[in-house]
Amino acid sequence: MSSQPYMNIALAGATGNLGQPLLKALVEAKYNVTVLSRSTPSNLPSGVKVATVDFTSLSSLSSALQGIDAFVSCIPNHGDQPILIDAAVAAGVKHFIPSEFGSNVIGNANCAALPVFAGKKKTEEYLDKVQDKITWTAVITGAFLEFCIEHGLLINPKTGLGEVSKVYDGGDGKRSFTTYADICTAVIGVLRRPEQCKNRAVYVQSTTTSQNELLAIAKELKPERDWAREEVSTEDLLTDSYANLKEGGPNIGKAMVGFIIISIMNQGYGSCWDEENDNGLLGINGLSREELKKVVAGCL
Ligand SMILES: NC(=O)c1ccc[n+]([C@@H]2O[C@H](COP(=O)([O-])OP(=O)(O)OC[C@H]3O[C@@H](n4cnc5c(N)ncnc54)[C@H](OP(=O)(O)O)[C@@H]3O)[C@@H](O)[C@H]2O)c1
Repeated sequence: MSSQPYMNIALAGATGNLGQPLLKALVEAKYNVTVLSRSTPSNLPSGVKVATVDFTSLSSLSSALQGIDAFVSCIPNHGDQPILIDAAVAAGVKHFIPSEFGSNVIGNANCAALPVFAGKKKTEEYLDKVQDKITWTAVITGAFLEFCIEHGLLINPKTGLGEVSKVYDGGDGKRSFTTYADICTAVIGVLRRPEQCKNRAVYVQSTTTSQNELLAIAKELKPERDWAREEVSTEDLLTDSYANLKEGGPNIGKAMVGFIIISIMNQGYGSCWDEENDNGLLGINGLSREELKKVVAGCL
């Protein structure tokens, strides 16, 4: 018999940006994984069970969760998770890891007040309410290093190819960033040590770095590009984002991206946990500068 507390894991959102590497890591770590999906995804690793579910139906979700020890949610619609939690409770699931994976909504009031995080806040409040019925752990990762470079949010990989990098508040602010590999290590670390992660947020990071440091690395890697930059104030971005939200329609997406950038780049939003975090508990070593350079190189 396995000495691990949980072996049967359900994963929702397994086909997404985070879900794909996480599914692979769970399978490699020999967990029995059931993917909960709205469809029947193809090309999943062999041995993975698929449950096609209606994410709005308690009975559909709870029947898919029978025999599951821990349920990891990686769905993008954060506010729709209370029904997942209810279904997990109904099925006797012991532990729920919500789709948090990002900014410090749980530990910083400014961050929690940003409209983009209303769904995360709703889920956190719901988990607090039901924590006598199911254990939870929120994994706070800061910005995903690769995702944010590839999407031009930290430095623009197309800079020098006709675009510029937007640099916020001078670009020297140090923030916590995590790679996909370390996010997977963190989730598996929680599954292995549920008691130490019970009903709380765990904070992880691969590195603390700044936009200026990342731009310097990018220049070292691709000196032939001109790496033009545009200075942006996060206070102005906050004003613009609320204006875009008020405008509505297609501007809502722009507003939401603005709020996410503010939560990472403005120092008042608690996005650096270099001094105190759960890396040691969860088995995350952090990146050396050479390793950081390799991650950046993979994104340019
Ligand atoms: N901090 C960062 O820099 C950062 C960056 C990216 C993401 N994140 C966070 O990471 C988590 C996962 O995001 P992601 O980008 O991986 O998500 P995603 O790629 O947008 O979507 C993940 C999967 O969720 C399922 N899904 C989509 N809409 C759904 C719905 N309405 N109901 C149920 N399932 C739905 C889909 O799988 P099926 O079709 O198989 O059902 C989809 O492939 C989120 O919490 C997100 O905020 C953070």
